[in-house]
Amino acid sequence: MKAATYQKYGSADVVEIKKVARPTIKDNEVLVKVYATSVTTADWRLRASAFPIYAWLPGRIMFGLFVPKNKILGMDFSGRIVAKGKNVTQFKGGDEVFGFAGNGAHAEYLAISEDDAMVKKPVNLGYDEAAAVPFGALSALVFLRDFAQIKTGQRVLINGASGGVGVFAVQLAKHFGADVTGVCGTAKLNLVKSIGADHVIDYTAEDFANTAEPYDIILDTVGTTSFSRSKPALTPSGVYVPLEFGLKEIFQSMLTSMIGTKKVVIGISGDSKDDLAFISDLLQRGEIRPVIDAHYPLDRIADAHRRVESRHKTGSVVVSVEQLDTIRLAAA
Ligand SMILES: NC(=O)c1ccc[n+]([C@@H]2O[C@H](COP(=O)([O-])OP(=O)(O)OC[C@H]3O[C@@H](n4cnc5c(N)ncnc54)[C@H](OP(=O)(O)O)[C@@H]3O)[C@@H](O)[C@H]2O)c1
Repeated sequence: MKAATYQKYGSADVVEIKKVARPTIKDNEVLVKVYATSVTTADWRLRASAFPIYAWLPGRIMFGLFVPKNKILGMDFSGRIVAKGKNVTQFKGGDEVFGFAGNGAHAEYLAISEDDAMVKKPVNLGYDEAAAVPFGALSALVFLRDFAQIKTGQRVLINGASGGVGVFAVQLAKHFGADVTGVCGTAKLNLVKSIGADHVIDYTAEDFANTAEPYDIILDTVGTTSFSRSKPALTPSGVYVPLEFGLKEIFQSMLTSMIGTKKVVIGISGDSKDDLAFISDLLQRGEIRPVIDAHYPLDRIADAHRRVESRHKTGSVVVSVEQLDTIRLAAA
């Protein structure tokens, strides 16, 4: 099969399309014919070894000290099940699925456990749209619901509202009944309004911290602000939740857990099947939708990595592994 591989850490140029062996499945796994995938900020970080300083050594130990252990990147995927192990009970051949794999989704076939974060694809979503969902939506869900403990009626500010996590954070915060302010660049104000933000702030023209009405939650998805800058814009019991954090934020989160009323909350996103099922239900009901920045064919996945690394994408960067017209013909 064809796969996007990387043999060493580095720039997008290290990603090469190669013929590799199709994965074999264990008894509890299914083989997915991948139709679409996406390149996320997590794929870029793994490929470039772009971890925060405190996480650099643990990251290299986990993902490969000198060279990457898993040579095929890719977490988000959508496709169709073409084979299953003998113990698989939740899926059958032909099921259309989407999900979040630990690695290996930038390829024509993916072997994944039936218990991993994979569910049936909502029928109202195309494969490319479904592949644009898991990373951003799962991260936004876990950060808002579990770490920020969002509640109805709260004022929530999403910094980076137009990014891969941000577009879902805006929509999920609305789902949870919050009054949402999205911070983004000039060209993306209309998009952020269209996905449900009650208010938008153009970061090139206005400082969100200069507000008369403070926020209960400030979720920073792009790492362009800080606790000290956000603090005056928080309610007395408000929380600052950075997705990108370093030693400073780790220290601040420990300190504010002991003293003061405004908190810094940090955490690592999860990838559970239950959470993906929750997201899938919202997609199916049209309560949330993916936003796609651009499509690339698998052969041009290195360009998709470059786009992601720019940090100016809008929503998700999708990679078509199978020509969509071929999929339609096969389904007819
Ligand atoms: N801790 C965890 O478990 C966890 C989980 C998931 C993600 N993360 C991290 O969180 C980050 C979020 O990833 P992502 O995929 O959402 O990012 P992304 O898609 O790369 O974010 C890009 C967006 O940010 C906007 N932006 C750039 N500068 C901005 C500014 N100064 N103010 C407001 N918006 C700005 C851009 O808009 P313009 O083009 O208009 O500038 C663009 O739309 C990544 O670093 C990822 O590693 C952490």
